[in-house]
Amino acid sequence: MAGDQAVSTLYGLGVGPGDPELITVKAWRIIGQVPVIAYPVANGTDSLARRIASPFIPEDVLELRLPIPMRTEREPAREAYEDAARLIAEQLDLGKDIAFLCEGDPFFYGSFMYVHERLQRAHTVMVVPGVTSLTACAAAIGRPLAARNELLKVIPAPLEETRLTEEIATAEAVAIIKVGKHFDKVRRVLRALDVADRAFIIERATREDERILALEDLPEGERPYFSTILVYRGGENW
Ligand SMILES: C[S@@+](CC[C@H](N)C(=O)[O-])C[C@H]1O[C@@H](n2cnc3c(N)ncnc32)[C@H](O)[C@@H]1O
Repeated sequence: MAGDQAVSTLYGLGVGPGDPELITVKAWRIIGQVPVIAYPVANGTDSLARRIASPFIPEDVLELRLPIPMRTEREPAREAYEDAARLIAEQLDLGKDIAFLCEGDPFFYGSFMYVHERLQRAHTVMVVPGVTSLTACAAAIGRPLAARNELLKVIPAPLEETRLTEEIATAEAVAIIKVGKHFDKVRRVLRALDVADRAFIIERATREDERILALEDLPEGERPYFSTILVYRGGENW
């Protein structure tokens, strides 16, 4: 924090992958104490992070709905983050603490990094880690992500097919995120590497509509954005 700035704090608050019971005690306490709650909203939708935290949000807080494009593959919309940072800074300068709600963990592929980058030099910003979708997905299928000296890679599905192939070929365990409209491409790669029959897709882990499916049981086409594919190609007998 810079010298004489207000002593208010911006919390980047991980609220976990969906089940409100997976909110940490620390996040729960902060949500109940701050006068301002902020969260990103993609155009025309509600906020998943807010929905997860809703049982714990007091009625009398100020809510900052921040319109931020969430699904773009291009460089994040700078203007939207500039606007969001300005709105947040206004409240911080009034001396108000703010909880910025983040699905999963704020720093695991989370958009909070763009807000953090813009505000952390002039304000106090604290990041409160959350349960990630990665660990939630492993729990859902009842299988460790990786063990011993195995190499686990987290791979974004929007990558080019050749890069996906190279990366998956050199890992024993793989988590593929942002599957959505890239499902067919990813499955093609997994089939070519002969591991599609060892892959599971976990959709909306820990939420009421969670689904766990074997990859080869699915038709062609898109899967929900909140889907992760877990593949294990290691040979160790645990
Ligand atoms: C931009 S990343 C954000 C990850 C989040 N910050 C976290 O800590 O889990 C979004 C991707 O995470 C994965 N994801 C997030 N929540 C999920 C859930 N409940 N079930 C399965 N995958 C999920 C999906 O692959 C989704 O496309």
